[in-house]
Amino acid sequence: MAKPRVLVTRRWPAAVEARLSDLFEVQLNRDDTPMRPEDFRAAMGQYDAILPTVTDKLGAPSLDIEKPQTRIFANYGVGFSHIDVEKASGQGIVITNTPDVLSECTADLAMTLMLMAARRAGEGERELRAGKWTGWRPTHLVGTKVSGKTLGIIGYGRIGQEMARRAHHGFGMKILAYNRSPVAPEVLAQCNATQVASVDELLPQCDFVSLHCPGGAANRHLIDSRRLGLMRPDAYLINTARGEVIDESALAQALWFETIGGAALDVFDGEPDINPQLRDSDRLVMLPHLGSATREAREAMGFRVIDNLQDFFAGREPRDRVN
Ligand code: DGY
Repeated sequence: MAKPRVLVTRRWPAAVEARLSDLFEVQLNRDDTPMRPEDFRAAMGQYDAILPTVTDKLGAPSLDIEKPQTRIFANYGVGFSHIDVEKASGQGIVITNTPDVLSECTADLAMTLMLMAARRAGEGERELRAGKWTGWRPTHLVGTKVSGKTLGIIGYGRIGQEMARRAHHGFGMKILAYNRSPVAPEVLAQCNATQVASVDELLPQCDFVSLHCPGGAANRHLIDSRRLGLMRPDAYLINTARGEVIDESALAQALWFETIGGAALDVFDGEPDINPQLRDSDRLVMLPHLGSATREAREAMGFRVIDNLQDFFAGREPRDRVN
């Protein structure tokens, strides 16, 4: 029987590309150039599976083709707000993602951002590299203590829970959680966390707020100027979820007028373009979407895609189907 035809939209870890090439008739993207909507429309007429990721804009213009050959989008990544799920589902396309395998590494990066922001690590490094450090002094780059403070987690899924574990068991932080659905008491108990009824209830109580909810239309600008106004004037906002969850202009204002203590972002609305209002703030730490960027997580994500594809082409329900 002919092997399924599979298109990989970006460069993947070598070990995963090798395994894909054994199993399927694979088209790799060796020069790693992002695809355009017209490339996707053409691909959907040729490939049984497309393996997209967060940089692929699979909105209506990319999916607008009659009778696609493609039957599955096996996404590389847990977030899939870059895919128009309704349109793809209408065309009979199955969508899968890669949960679990990146949760620890993404939570590690959220901790990194929280510590960097609180301890002014970005400012310190910039000063040092610019040759402007004049030496130790008691009032130099004084930050905020993290240990023992209150962390609010918005989105208490797998990554949010890993973040809570690190913060509570490593740094003795008190955990408040907001989640759309009720979190099981035994899950909350693992970090002595308290679930609150609303984002508005959570924000005024926290020294740090970390976002771990999905992106997409439902959560667009969940953190807007009104909600930034509910944060304490010395509190920090951390985002490793999706850029669109924060109204970035409102955040830039809050940083400029010092109505919050600082922020740290790994994701941006419209990335890789960065809202110019954000660039100049010393109270803001920025990283280029590194949440899952470890060798271990990126390989595991690739192998999880392969599991989903193998199930799908063997006629089984893929474990990570999302539609
Ligand atoms: C995801 O998995 O959604 C990340 O943002 C990319 O690793």
